[in-house]
Amino acid sequence: DAAAGDWSTIEVSVADRVGTIRLNRPKALNALNEETMDEVVAVATALDADDEVGAILLVGSAKAFAAGADIKEMSSKGLAEMYSADWFRRWEDFARLRTPVIAGVSGYALGGGCELAMMADVLITGEGAKFGQPEINLGVIPGMGGSQRLTRSVGKAKAMDMILTGRHIGAAEAERIGLVSRVVADEELEDTAATVAAEIAAKSKPAAQMAKEVVAAAFETPLQHGLVHERRVFHSLFATADQKEGMSAFSEKRSPQWQRR
Ligand code: CAA
Repeated sequence: DAAAGDWSTIEVSVADRVGTIRLNRPKALNALNEETMDEVVAVATALDADDEVGAILLVGSAKAFAAGADIKEMSSKGLAEMYSADWFRRWEDFARLRTPVIAGVSGYALGGGCELAMMADVLITGEGAKFGQPEINLGVIPGMGGSQRLTRSVGKAKAMDMILTGRHIGAAEAERIGLVSRVVADEELEDTAATVAAEIAAKSKPAAQMAKEVVAAAFETPLQHGLVHERRVFHSLFATADQKEGMSAFSEKRSPQWQRR
């Protein structure tokens, strides 16, 4: 059971083929300390390997998805310690999960919280959500991918503005600049995010994983290489039972019964 564990900073459940991870450090607005990082990455890795899980949903609380990396934990550290621990490297394991990840963001998604949300494949947000990279106001810069993922996702103009001023942006601006997938009423956020996760989880898992793989590759590869990669992955799906089933079901005007192989 991938969800089993004695977690102290998160809550985990599995239902409808969706593994849900809820950040749960309410007194610190879900600030991401080392323990949270270890717990989120460990459980997400286990969920990723579970054939019965087709999507991973990451949520926080109404007030905060996550207000950043834990400032109090980091404040007294020095260069040698940060460097030798390669602080935040472990989050790269989260970004490299192969199962689709949906983030449901309500309230603050700041610093590492914004960066974690940007690691998700689909980002659903409540209309009251606030995104920002306020590290400049702490005398540092983003360290969990903000300068790279934010810039690739919204372009230089908005990334420089957010990272150099540290200002928070609301959900409407976040949607306008392409940072988030959908904005819904705050009271509908949890239901909508869970519904989208269940919808994705119900699909053919190989197809969903390969779809994620090829979209993610668009950020890493030149266009011609990415196009060839996409075609080869597309071709490889013709070796799956789900391709035969999906295309037969269309012709027979019925719903597909995925075997997920
Ligand atoms: N780290 C540690 N503790 C945090 C925290 C953080 N990132 N964010 C909030 N908290 C704590 C507060 O210290 C406070 O604890 P105490 O009650 O013990 O004082 C508690 O959570 C509640 O926070 P506030 O009283 O500040 O709540 P508020 O509603 O007045 O303000 C807020 C909310 C605007 C989000 C404010 O808490 C804030 O600005 N937080 C810090 C945001 C930030 O700078 N994030 C970037 C962190 S660095 C980083 O993430 C590096 C990276 O690239 C990965």
